[in-house]
Amino acid sequence: MINDLWYKNAVVYCLSVETFMDANGDGVGDFQGLQRRLDYLAGLGVTAIWLMPFQTSPDRDDGYDVSDYYNVNPRYGTLGDFVEFTHGAKQRGIRVLIDLVVNHTSDEHPWFQDARSNPDSRYRDWYLWSDKKPANADEGMVFPGVQKSTWTYDEKAKQYYFHRFYDFQPDLNTANPHVQAELLKIMGFWIQLGVAGFRMDAVPFVIAEKGAEVTKPKEQYDMLRMFREFLQWRLGDSIILAEANVVPKENLNYFGEDGERMQMMFNFHVNQALFYALASADGRPLTKAITDTMSRPQTAQWGMFLRNHDELDLGRLSEKQRQTVFSEFGPDKSMQLYDRGIRRRLAPMLKGDRRRLELAYSLMFSLPGTPVIRYGDEIGMGDDLSLPERNCARTPMQWSTEPQGGFSKNEKPVLPVISGGAFGFEHTNVAQQRRDPNSMLNWMERLIRMRKEAPEIGWGDCVPLDTGDKGVLALRYDWRENSVLVVHNLNPTPVEVEFDVGLDDDGATLIDIVDDGSSQAQKNGKHKLLLDAYAYRWFRVGGLDYLLKRREI
Ligand code: NOJ
Repeated sequence: MINDLWYKNAVVYCLSVETFMDANGDGVGDFQGLQRRLDYLAGLGVTAIWLMPFQTSPDRDDGYDVSDYYNVNPRYGTLGDFVEFTHGAKQRGIRVLIDLVVNHTSDEHPWFQDARSNPDSRYRDWYLWSDKKPANADEGMVFPGVQKSTWTYDEKAKQYYFHRFYDFQPDLNTANPHVQAELLKIMGFWIQLGVAGFRMDAVPFVIAEKGAEVTKPKEQYDMLRMFREFLQWRLGDSIILAEANVVPKENLNYFGEDGERMQMMFNFHVNQALFYALASADGRPLTKAITDTMSRPQTAQWGMFLRNHDELDLGRLSEKQRQTVFSEFGPDKSMQLYDRGIRRRLAPMLKGDRRRLELAYSLMFSLPGTPVIRYGDEIGMGDDLSLPERNCARTPMQWSTEPQGGFSKNEKPVLPVISGGAFGFEHTNVAQQRRDPNSMLNWMERLIRMRKEAPEIGWGDCVPLDTGDKGVLALRYDWRENSVLVVHNLNPTPVEVEFDVGLDDDGATLIDIVDDGSSQAQKNGKHKLLLDAYAYRWFRVGGLDYLLKRREI
């Protein structure tokens, strides 16, 4: 089942329709607004858009509580507007991925409403019920501190129901064949309307055994193959990008030994080590995380990211490492969330320091995987810590210096636009950055171009090199007799490193593809590099003689 592997070298841009662009002036972003911004996204160079949930929903968890899977939330437009949008994206060569939230529904979903009101309802078994409160009801909450339990009594049903997330998100009984058939139908529906695949929400929970008697839920991995097969039978090059924050030894269970399950997964393991590296200037745990998650089927790919719409989950770092990240990037309690993470956006975490921002994005873009950025990253948007939980990092896109940052003509946008200070729309916005050749926006556009010109990163084998300095990370990618080398200095000071590129590199030249300059191997066969504080260098390994020799022409 191998098809077009476009996702191996895609550049994914994640956005929420609600906060991207409001065309009709009601304060809420909509598909018509997004449609008008497609040329902006095409100009930036992204090749895929990941849309956060936009289906009908009471919107109590930013749309991750769906009440109708076959419709667009009327606040964002109509199905017609959606199809116009996917068509517009296709015309510009941009694929559209959408969130697929099928671990649970909203409690307002007609299935749940029917199920709770009648024990004989055909939907009763679509959810998980128990007469008694299960002994482990106060375990396994995903939102500790906010969520009290995983089983809640429902007066109407006269039973407890299971919810892995908030109590308004009852879990679907995903082992029920009728539920499974419906999940496939949902995928088939959106595929027909022009999407290229799904970011599947909460995958480990979707496939876990569920029920009052389950104490150690086992994963039903076969379900992943079923989803994958169905999707590819409908549309050969469509994909699933799984949200699965699992330990490395689980990875192959999700990808499938032969790549027959999920094509992509977010690499949460590397994400946490990446933040530790930025906080401590020690790249060793990151190199280890890269190595630990290296083995995967040829057709599988990692989604690499820095920050997303949730908190930065540091749950898998050691206590000491976690404290290092907290004290560097989120020292205040108001910046932390759910006892395990930081809820800020990246730019304020790095105090708006361009050198560090560039280092962070350059690093993320050159890790073994496909980069996923979030709307606003390209201009260095900030957060609003006065907003509750994760909303602080979900404020409207800042387009210009017009009122409401040009997001809406309405004075009361769905979430307040950040105003005042270095990250306010008056100072940080697209319009101004568009005109400034040195802006973050124009830098990001160049970075995206550079990533596209180095497909070795997506296709090739990644070899970490020893630079002799724990703060200098060097990764070499080899693909079809070509090599690319990326070097990052995590240190806040300039350093000189001397290292072996690790190829038979007599005469190999490192040609800088970011800036002017190149490096010749010294007599001892090693390269010596002087790196500024937080410097990043991308090289192509070249030199005509050397390449001819390697290709044995
Ligand atoms: C993961 C999503 O990323 C998060 O935003 C959401 O709250 C939960 N899944 C529940 O759907």
